[in-house]
Amino acid sequence: MSEFADRLIAWQRRHGRHDLPWQGTRDPYRVWLSEIMLQQTQVDSVKPYYLRFLARFPDVASLAAAPVEDVLALWSGLGYYARARNLHRAAQVVMDDFGGRFPQDAAQLQRLPGVGRSTAAAIASFCFGERVAILDGNVKRVLCRHFGIEGFPGERKVEEALWALATRLLPVAGVEVYPQAQMDLGATVCTRGKPACVRCPVQDGCVAWRDGRQAELPAPRPRKAVPQRQCDMLVLCSPRAVLLEQRPARGVWGGLYSLPELVDGETPQAGALRLLGTPLQDWRALPPVQHAFTHFRLEIRPWLRRLEASAPIAAEGRLDWIARDALESTGLPAPVRKLLQAALAD
Ligand code: ADE
Repeated sequence: MSEFADRLIAWQRRHGRHDLPWQGTRDPYRVWLSEIMLQQTQVDSVKPYYLRFLARFPDVASLAAAPVEDVLALWSGLGYYARARNLHRAAQVVMDDFGGRFPQDAAQLQRLPGVGRSTAAAIASFCFGERVAILDGNVKRVLCRHFGIEGFPGERKVEEALWALATRLLPVAGVEVYPQAQMDLGATVCTRGKPACVRCPVQDGCVAWRDGRQAELPAPRPRKAVPQRQCDMLVLCSPRAVLLEQRPARGVWGGLYSLPELVDGETPQAGALRLLGTPLQDWRALPPVQHAFTHFRLEIRPWLRRLEASAPIAAEGRLDWIARDALESTGLPAPVRKLLQAALAD
C-alpha cells in the first residue's frame, strides 16, 4: 500500500515545490496561518498576504492581542472573511486555553476555530511528523482518479471511504513530506482540467489513466432534484387561427405569446366559458410535453378543441386570435411552438 506514498515522496523531492514562503519551518503558527490562507485561495494569491500578515503579526500572541478590525484589514482582498475571524479567535484560544503554546497533535489542533480534520492533519504532519492523513480537494481528486472511486466526494459515504483509503496509504517514513507531495501533485500534475498524466509518478495503476476517465473522476456534485410543475393549456383553433395570450412582461416567458392556461382546478369546459363565454365540450387530451427550466421542470398537458370559426373573446386580458400563417413570426416559447406544430398538423 505504501508504494503509492513512497513514489509520491520521491517525486516531491525532485519535482515538487520547495520555495514556498511557508516551507522550511516547523513553527506551527506559520504553518497554521498558511494552511488557513490556502484553504480557498491559490498559492500565488496567498504569498503576498502571508508575508504582510507575518510582518504585522509575527507570533500567535501578537495576533491574539490585536483588534479584529486590524486582522480583517490585512485579510482584505483574500475573501472568505470567516477565515480571518476564526483565525483571530483561534489565536485567543491558543493563548487562553493552551497557555500560548500551539497544540502539538492533530486531535488538539482540531479544537481551534477554523481548523478542520484535514488542516489539523497537515499542520501536525508538517510540524510534528504525526502520521495522519490529509484529505483536501486536491487529495480527493487524486485518490478518486487513481483508485477509480465513484460517487461525489462531498457525499458522506464517499468521503468516509476516502478518509479510510488516505489513512491506509500513509507512508512509514517521510510523513513530513507526504502531505506536500499530495498537494503538489494535485496542483501541478493531477489538475482538474487537462491533467499532465505523462508526468505523473503514479500513472502506473491509475484507473482514470487506464480507462481514459480523467474528465469523469471525481464525479461532480449531483444536481439537486428540481421541482416538477404541471399546467394545462388550451389549444382552441379555428381553420384559420389559434387563440393565444400574451404573457406578462415579467416572469417566465415574459412578453411572449403562449396558449391560454387553465387556472387551478378548472376543467377545459369551464376554461372555455371564462375565455369565450361558451362552455365548450368534446375536448381531446393531447400527449403531455416536458420542458426543463433551470429551477423546475414543467409538464404541459394540452387540450385540443376545434371551432368552425374564431369566436368572440369574453375574458379580459391580452387574448387574441392569431392567424395560423402568422405563427412563424410570432414570439412563442419553444415547447409551445413544438406543441402547436403537432396539434395543428393532425
Ligand atoms: N494548499 C494547502 N496547503 C498547501 C501547501 N502547504 N502548499 C501548497 N498548497 C497548499
